[in-house]
Amino acid sequence: MLHDPNRVYVFDTTLRDGEQVPGCQLTTPEKIEIAKELEALGVDVIEAGFPISSPGDFQSVVELSKAVSEPIICALTRANKGDIDSAVAALQYAKRPRIHTGIGSSDMHIKHKFNSTREEILERAVEAVKYAKKSVEDIEFYAEDAGRADVRFLAQMVEAVIAAGATVVNIPDTNGYCLPDQYGSKIKFLKENVKNIDQAIISVHCHNDLGLATANSIAGLQNGARQIEGTINGIGERAGNTSIEEVVMILKTHAILGLHTNINTKNFYELSRMVSSQMRMPVQPNKAIVGSNAFAHSSGIHQDGFLKNRENYEIIRPEDVGFPDASIVLTARSGRHALKFHLERLGFNLNKEELSEVYHRFLTVADSKLDINDQDLLLMMGKQQLA
Ligand code: KIV
Ligand code: ZN
Repeated sequence: MLHDPNRVYVFDTTLRDGEQVPGCQLTTPEKIEIAKELEALGVDVIEAGFPISSPGDFQSVVELSKAVSEPIICALTRANKGDIDSAVAALQYAKRPRIHTGIGSSDMHIKHKFNSTREEILERAVEAVKYAKKSVEDIEFYAEDAGRADVRFLAQMVEAVIAAGATVVNIPDTNGYCLPDQYGSKIKFLKENVKNIDQAIISVHCHNDLGLATANSIAGLQNGARQIEGTINGIGERAGNTSIEEVVMILKTHAILGLHTNINTKNFYELSRMVSSQMRMPVQPNKAIVGSNAFAHSSGIHQDGFLKNRENYEIIRPEDVGFPDASIVLTARSGRHALKFHLERLGFNLNKEELSEVYHRFLTVADSKLDINDQDLLLMMGKQQLA
């Protein structure tokens, strides 16, 4: 089958990078429940864990491998034989196993984390890939802290690990350091200067320390990467990882980019709530795509425009991401149009003068409350409750 050059693969690391967050740890049954929903969402790869890190994580990778059949199941390792052996054992039941191995690529990591040299690190990277390749065909290599790495050395590393058998090369902005054009240029440089680059897929893995994870991921895709790594709700180390729902909806909204995924976007909202509740990590109300205010219109100007034509203030239909519906929130900033909309919904059809009179009463009440609910409106209309 011919490879579709515009297909973007989605690699979910909610259960690995996301689960590393303090307080977000999950039991194996909880991980299985989320993994099944990720499968229904249509992700291509599930990073199930880091098997050497604990017996519990090892077991989770074993059980997830049994429970899920469609996506590739991936296990993380450092670039050493012990980690790789553990990952191979944990992946024994996976229908489509992948090993994700790697090592630091920035001079910062090489000197101050590994106390090593570029030459030695390169050797260890190649050895790890060759060793993993003996047991598993699909090998993803991560060049940790690639965002701060010297691009020529990075290119040398990428070329060497592809020659050693890597099928995917992950270029993480581990510290969320890059600007989108810097990150995009790095991917472009690799595309143009690594002679065997067409033998592997370039993957983007961005962190959100400067709030740029999504923008950087998109810049990477625009410059030739074809796999995006992220998590549901953007959870992950420190400020988090790229939020999968954001990247997918950007590609869908900006069809001009010509890129597409296999994601059933209608599943986003429910899965977001499931991850939030199981991981005890609330979703901020203004979070793009899945936050509780993502489709709530509250100012009078916006409400008026929205009620005339939703598309004045709606670039994504809530139902496309499984969100219950857009809402018109009544506050002291709301106008007559929004009040009329809600009163009609409750069965009150007022003429212009009546509406004007109720609107003044409404403003008095709204000034003393954060928002106005149906019960407040009924009281305002002299009713205790709906008939
Ligand atoms: O952020 C990072 O560099 C990682 C790697 C382990 C892929 O999570
Ligand atoms: Zn990461």
